[in-house]
Amino acid sequence: MAPSATDRRLILVTGASRGIGRAAALALAKAGNHVIATARSEKALTKLDDEIKAATGHNATLIPLDLRDMTGIDRLASALLERFGRLDGLLGNAGVLGTLGPLETISPQSFQETLDVNFTANWRLIRSVHPLLRMSEAGRALFITTGIVPRPRAYWGVYGATKAALETMIACYADEIEKTPIRVNLFDPGAVRTEMRFKAMPGEDQSTLPSPDDVAATIPFYLSPECEFHGERVVFQDIVKR
Ligand SMILES: NC(=O)c1ccc[n+]([C@@H]2O[C@H](COP(=O)([O-])OP(=O)(O)OC[C@H]3O[C@@H](n4cnc5c(N)ncnc54)[C@H](OP(=O)(O)O)[C@@H]3O)[C@@H](O)[C@H]2O)c1
Repeated sequence: MAPSATDRRLILVTGASRGIGRAAALALAKAGNHVIATARSEKALTKLDDEIKAATGHNATLIPLDLRDMTGIDRLASALLERFGRLDGLLGNAGVLGTLGPLETISPQSFQETLDVNFTANWRLIRSVHPLLRMSEAGRALFITTGIVPRPRAYWGVYGATKAALETMIACYADEIEKTPIRVNLFDPGAVRTEMRFKAMPGEDQSTLPSPDDVAATIPFYLSPECEFHGERVVFQDIVKR
C-alpha cells in the first residue's frame, strides 16, 4: 500500500471555506477524520485549519482550487494518490446560486459558472477520485442538493436544473457502483443560515433558520463506514423530525 500520512479516515470536503462545507469540515475533523479541505479562498481555509488544529490537535490538508479548473481537479486527485494512496470520503458540497431570475435574463457567463460548479465539477471529481475511493475499505460520498429539485419554481431555473442534473448523475453513479463497497448519497439541507441563503432571500429573518453547525452535525455519519445507506436522498428536516 502507498504510504499514508495518517491512519485516520481521509475525507475531501469541497466548499470548505464557509457555510455548510466549513461547518461540515470541522464536524468531520472533530469526529476523528483527516480533512482535506478545498475552496478558492486560501485565507478562509487557513482559518479553518487553525480551528481544526485547536479543536483536535491535528492539521487539515488544504488545497486552494477553483473547481471550474477541471484539470486542477485531476491534479488534486493525483496529489491525493501520491500522498495518501486512497480516499475514504468525498463531501461534494461546493455550490453557487448563480443568478435568480427569469431564464431569458440570465447571462451566459452566469449560466456556465452555475453549471460548472454545481454539476460538471462534481462529475470531474467522481471521474478523478473514484479510483481512490475504491482503494478505501469503506469509501463514502455525499453530494449536497436542494429542495428546489422536487419543488421547482419561477426564477430558480438554472440553479435548480444544475442540482437536478447532479441528482440524476448521483442516482446513476449509485447504480453503477452498487456491487462495490462504496456508498453514495445525496443530502438536501433545506434552508440554512449561510451567505448563499442570504443572497437568495435577503429579506428573510435568518435567525429562524438552522445554522450550518446544526446541519453539519448530521453529516459525518454519511461519510463513515457505519453508513450503509446507498442511493438515498437524505433530507435534513426529516432527520430532525425523527
Ligand atoms: N444555504 C442553503 O440554504 C442551502 C439550501 C440548499 C442547498 N444548499 C447547498 O449547500 C451547499 C453549500 O452552500 P452554502 O449555503 O454553504 O453556500 P456558501 O456559504 O455560499 O458556500 C459555498 C462554498 O462553495 C465554494 N465555491 C463556490 N464557488 C466555487 C468555485 N468556483 N471553486 C471552488 N469552490 C467554490 C465557496 O468557496 P470559495 O468562494 O472560497 O471558493 C464556499 O466554500 C451548496 O451546494 C448549496 O447549493 C444550500
